[in-house]
Parts: sequence; C-alpha cells; structure tokens
Amino acid sequence: MPNDLIFIVDDDPALRKLTSILLEDRSYVTQAFETGEDCIRALDERPSAILLDMMLPGMNGLETLEQIKLKSPTTPVILVTSINKTDTAVSAMKLGAYDYLVKPYDETRLIASLEKALQQDALNTHVHFLKTEINKLKTPQGIVGNSPVILEVLTKAKLGAESGAAILIQGESGTGKELLARTVHENSPWSNGLFVDINCGAIPDTLQESELFGHKKGAFTGATEMQKGKLELAHHGTLFLDEIGEMTLATQAKLLRFLQEKTFERIGEHRKIQVECQIVSATNKDLKEAVAQGSFREDLYYRLAVFPVTAPPLRERKQDIPLLCQHFLTKYKTQIRKHHTGIHPQALQALMDYSWPGNIRELENAIFQAMILATGEILQLEDFHFIPQNISTTLPAPPQTNQTDTKVLSLDEAIKSAIQNALTASNGKAHLAGEILGLSRSAFYRLLKKYDIR
Ligand SMILES: Nc1ncnc2c1ncn2[C@@H]1O[C@H](COP(=O)(O)OP(=O)(O)OP(=O)(O)O)[C@@H](O)[C@H]1O
Ligand SMILES: [Mg+2]
Repeated sequence: MPNDLIFIVDDDPALRKLTSILLEDRSYVTQAFETGEDCIRALDERPSAILLDMMLPGMNGLETLEQIKLKSPTTPVILVTSINKTDTAVSAMKLGAYDYLVKPYDETRLIASLEKALQQDALNTHVHFLKTEINKLKTPQGIVGNSPVILEVLTKAKLGAESGAAILIQGESGTGKELLARTVHENSPWSNGLFVDINCGAIPDTLQESELFGHKKGAFTGATEMQKGKLELAHHGTLFLDEIGEMTLATQAKLLRFLQEKTFERIGEHRKIQVECQIVSATNKDLKEAVAQGSFREDLYYRLAVFPVTAPPLRERKQDIPLLCQHFLTKYKTQIRKHHTGIHPQALQALMDYSWPGNIRELENAIFQAMILATGEILQLEDFHFIPQNISTTLPAPPQTNQTDTKVLSLDEAIKSAIQNALTASNGKAHLAGEILGLSRSAFYRLLKKYDIR
C-alpha cells in the first residue's frame, strides 16, 4: 500500500539508493540502514516490511533477522543475498523470514514479494485487532468487590498470572472461579492470545481427549474431519481447564505428559505439536481428597497447583453484597427493561443476613428474580421470595404491616445498618453509598443526619 514504511538494510550504498528510488517511485516510504544494528535500533518506528541483506558488516543477516523476530515478531522480513545458497535460505525461513530473494534484484519479483508481505502484515494487524476485540467481548466487567478478602485474592491471582505459573483456583460453586480465571488471563504474559475454556464436567468421558488434543480424520468412529484441539487454540493464550476434578485418568495422563514436555500429538497422528500457554484450572472439589482416593493423579495435581488460589465464599465477604447488588441491577437493567434504582434498606439487610450457599451466582439470580417481580423502583423485602421463612421472620417486619413500637425500632436499626454497609462498600464515599441504596444525594444526607452517622 502507498505510504507503507519499508526498511532497507544493505551495506552497499549504491544498492540502498537504487532500491529506495525504486520503491519511492511506487509511493512507498523508505528508510535505509547500513547495518543490522542500526535497523534494530529503529524498529520502534514500526516498518510494514523489511528488506534485509544477508552479508552485513557486524551482525549478519540471520542474526539481525533473529533480533527483529524477537522485537517485532509479526513484521515481514524479505532476505536478500548475492549468493544463491539454499541452506541459508532454509535457515532464514526457519527463523521466520517471509521470503528470500537473490541479487541482483529482479524488479518485478521484488515488488511482487513485497506486496504479498504487506498483505500479510495487514492481515496480522487485523487478526491481532480481532483477537483483542473478541477478548473484550468475552471480558466480564471485572471482579466486583472491595472487601479485604477479595482484594487479597485478586492481588494473589495477578501476581500468579504475571509469573506465568500454572494456577489452580479452588472454591465452592458460584464463587466466581471462571471470572477469576479470566482475570488471570488478562494479567498473564499471554493476554493478547485467546482465552480457551474446556469444561471437563460437561464433556462425555470418551470425548475429553479429542476435545483437548484434537484428532486426525478417521482417528475413531465419528471423526469425519480433522479437528484441532482446545490446547492448540490456546497457543500463546490461556487454557482454562474448568472442573478439572472431572477429568478422566486417561486424559490426566496425557495432560501430564504435555505439561512435562510442552508438546503433544493429535489423536491418530505422530507429529509433535508445540504449545506455550498459561494454564489455569478450577474445581469445586477437594482435589487433595481426590488424590487420596485415587481419582486424581498426585503428580498432575502438583503440576497444576504451582500457584493455588482460593475463591472465597460470599459469606466470608458479605461487605461486598451492596456493591454486587448494584452491579447486578445495572447488568440486568437493559435485559429486563425495568429500571430499579436501588434496594430498600430492609431488603438489603435481609440479603446481608442470608448465608448464600450458592454464593454470587445465587445472589445474582435473587436480584434478577426480584427485578422481574418488583413493581416499584426500589426492590423491597417481599420481592425476594427465595429468602427462607426462618430468616425473614428474624428480620424486622415490612413497614406496611401493623407495627408495634419495637418493630419500628428494628426497622430503624435495619436502615442504620444498611447505611453503614453501603458506606463500607463505597469506602466511605457518601454519594456512592447513596447510589447503592437508590437514594438521591440529599435524601441520603438527610438519613445520615437522622441516624447520626458520620
Ligand atoms: N466478584 C464478582 N463480581 C461480579 N460478578 C461475579 C463475581 N463473582 C462471580 N460473579 C458472577 O457470578 C456468576 C458465577 O460466577 P462463576 O461462573 O465464575 O462461578 P464458578 O465459581 O465458576 O461457579 P461453578 O463452580 O458453579 O462453575 C457469574 O455470572 C459471574 O459473572
Ligand atoms: Mg465455573
């Protein structure tokens, strides 16, 4: 494409000049260098392609190519040399050269090769862009919560991710293990690659291996086409092995071999495929117990749990409930097409008192159902039908029932405690706390004053 920046690296000044003129006549922008070192130093200018002479003073062509591939792996490089040595050509292609030309240049051949290289560069850029977009679409808004418990888990997960070590996330159902796994991916060295998940619990035992490693056409009955496995797709990205406790012993053995050798074979093939990726696994089972019982390999356990992280149950981070409620109100606003501005303090208190055996997923469902049921703008206690009777009876009665003096007093207490919870959740920021409760700034300040809270 016109205006594409092309680097020309050649120690022959006459040839540098000639190639520059030739390319600039076709509206390319060129920059010429005498040595490989000079070219490497200028890589930040992001050339669209590089024409690289093999015989250079100092760093030779192959060494320069290696450096370019390290610093700018997708930039296409066309190698040029005066000696037609096929072994050098082979080495160059192995190192990732896009093409190989023999001096003296045949002008048409040079331009043809360059144009194809530029097409590849444009394609690479597109693929990179699309990958980022896909990951963005898949990216959840992030982990909501600012309790010390969740902040500690997040810090740990991020540190683990940066180290690139295999991470095992353990935790009860609904605690956000998948969300944590995505956070690990975003913070790992492979965050530009794909996040590929495989749910071992959802795949029939007989298909686990082929799902993970892929298969050759005709490898087994039903294998009508060659299929790449999830592992291959995760190359330079993250492989998320969800419900790892459900993996069969046969698949465990194969996975272990991959983790040791970094290579694997598709079922029915003998070609070794190399994959580098971040490994994250998750389970709500006690894997150590599974090891003791013989249903999970001990050696695999230690390979996967280089860096163990625990997703805490919601009952251990209840102070995140107000923020989570607000998050789910916003999340479902468009889907349900009902706008709820907040949760009544009494209802919020009931949510804080509940033990949430199903963790965040249960809370999310509760908010979703209440939003569908609620008629007013503020979600009321009676909109949360799921709250078991024994719990709601321990709560202050709703305001519209016949209230005795003591009941009115407990409602006051509930309101006070909800305000305090909202303040904790918003780090003491009154306007945010008001938002959580669906109150205007002035209404919230009136309440603060009324209940003498600072
Ligand atoms: N901290 C959080 N902030 C916002 N949403 C969350 C958070 N944690 C979990 N969720 C939401 O809760 C739901 C359950 O989370 P997730 O699927 O990650 O749990 P899980 O631990 O993988 O559960 P399971 O063991 O049942 O597979 C999801 O909709 C997720 O988006
Ligand atoms: Mg899950």
